[in-house]
Amino acid sequence: MARFVPVDPFDIVIFGGTGDLSRRKLLPALYHRWLDGQIPENSAVVATARSDIDTAAFRKLAKEACQSESGDSWSETEWVKFEKLVQYITIDATDPKANWAGLRKLLKLEEKRPRVFYLATSPHLYVDICRAIGSAGLAAEPARVVLEKPIGTDLDSARAINDGVGEVFSERQVFRIDHYLGKETVQNLMVLRFANMLFEPLWSHNYIDHVQITVAENLGLEGRAEYYDRSGALRDMVQNHMLQLLCLTAMEPPNNLGDDDIRTEKIKVLNALSLIGTDHVRKQTVRGQYTAGIFEGKPVKGYLEELSSASGSSTETFVAIKAEIKNWRWAGVPFYLRTGKRMSSRHSDIVIQFKAAPHNIFGQSVESVNRLVIRLQPDEAVRLFVQIKEPGPGGLRVKSLPLNLSYAESFLIRYPDAYERLLMDIVRGNLSLFMRRDEVEAAWRWVDGLIDAWDASGYQPEPYSSGTDGPLSAALMTDRDGRSWWKEG
Ligand code: BG6
Repeated sequence: MARFVPVDPFDIVIFGGTGDLSRRKLLPALYHRWLDGQIPENSAVVATARSDIDTAAFRKLAKEACQSESGDSWSETEWVKFEKLVQYITIDATDPKANWAGLRKLLKLEEKRPRVFYLATSPHLYVDICRAIGSAGLAAEPARVVLEKPIGTDLDSARAINDGVGEVFSERQVFRIDHYLGKETVQNLMVLRFANMLFEPLWSHNYIDHVQITVAENLGLEGRAEYYDRSGALRDMVQNHMLQLLCLTAMEPPNNLGDDDIRTEKIKVLNALSLIGTDHVRKQTVRGQYTAGIFEGKPVKGYLEELSSASGSSTETFVAIKAEIKNWRWAGVPFYLRTGKRMSSRHSDIVIQFKAAPHNIFGQSVESVNRLVIRLQPDEAVRLFVQIKEPGPGGLRVKSLPLNLSYAESFLIRYPDAYERLLMDIVRGNLSLFMRRDEVEAAWRWVDGLIDAWDASGYQPEPYSSGTDGPLSAALMTDRDGRSWWKEG
């Protein structure tokens, strides 16, 4: 039996087709689904942008992009077949008078054929583009629209986008992407929790001391200064990716995997997050901004030098938060979140730290806690740290070692990119891994409260050297609670 079930033939239109997201993620993802035989050959991939180029020039650009993202899986023969699906048309997507008629001709517009409009553009264009799609008569089902994060910069702007898009598309036609939900290890979180009986009885304040979620990056701005300086780590990473990880870790078991079952459970978690007000903001959060330092043995610039803005910037490139979920399961269990740019290494982990054994018969120096460490990237793995006796005569020496499930050792397959799964889910019309309107808005409500508290207390980012684990205050935040950030080794 084929590992990948082919989807029905479909049309996908990528607005912002010549842009970074399209070249680095979307086109390579479609090409790889093609390689695995999932995309039928009578499907169409139509890229649009304002650039005045033709299909031949676009195919050349697309080929370069797919080849550079493919490594060993590149196949010239398959590319020649795949590129026949690819078309380009020049459109200023916010202009109802643009060449929409030309676009219509490239689409099949059959009653049951999925028609995907992927907005790989700046979010401030989302509403105008949707209106133009509507005016061109292309928005009726089976059409669906895909919105990339960030959806707005706060609750009000997110609502405005959702309202505007909602004038044209119904909620079940809207796919709001958070690419973290397409990551294999993130989906495995649900399998780990809900396909194993082992964890559920322990998964609460009764046995869990605290949870840590770290998404550490070692890169800096990478040419995205303009966007990033308006956004910062809280809006760029916490409002979406980190809160999604928190929800999947903390949510109740959904009844099944239907479109709304998981989303309904996630939103309950978001609504139970305790707002962090001015009184607690300096104890429960840390803002940082990287300064010059050493990365991979070489000196690197600080944030302000990379930005080269004369007026400076108070945008945070690091944030740590002690979050609390006020519900029956999690009362009293802190969720420590931490993310930043230019940190010592790139790694994303969820660490579930269990409570210590109630009575330690092995001596004070023996740590009697278990940890479940879910490494999301790189070196994807699930490790359960248990205490074992170190072999040998003499005293009883106890050591903490992992039961180690490494993805690379267990599955000898190419690791699909998050977008591959998500794109196929969109074509199938499966909404469960996409964010519902109320979910995005609930996340903004919590984040807005935190930003207001930062503003009201005048909390400016604290400097940290590039290549470190963030400002000292982040370590002090856990120290104060008698805990520490988990570190490998
Ligand atoms: C994006 C953020 O959403 O996620 C980036 O805008 C960040 O700033 C990226 O670098 C991280 O994604 P990944 O998949 O590399 O962990």
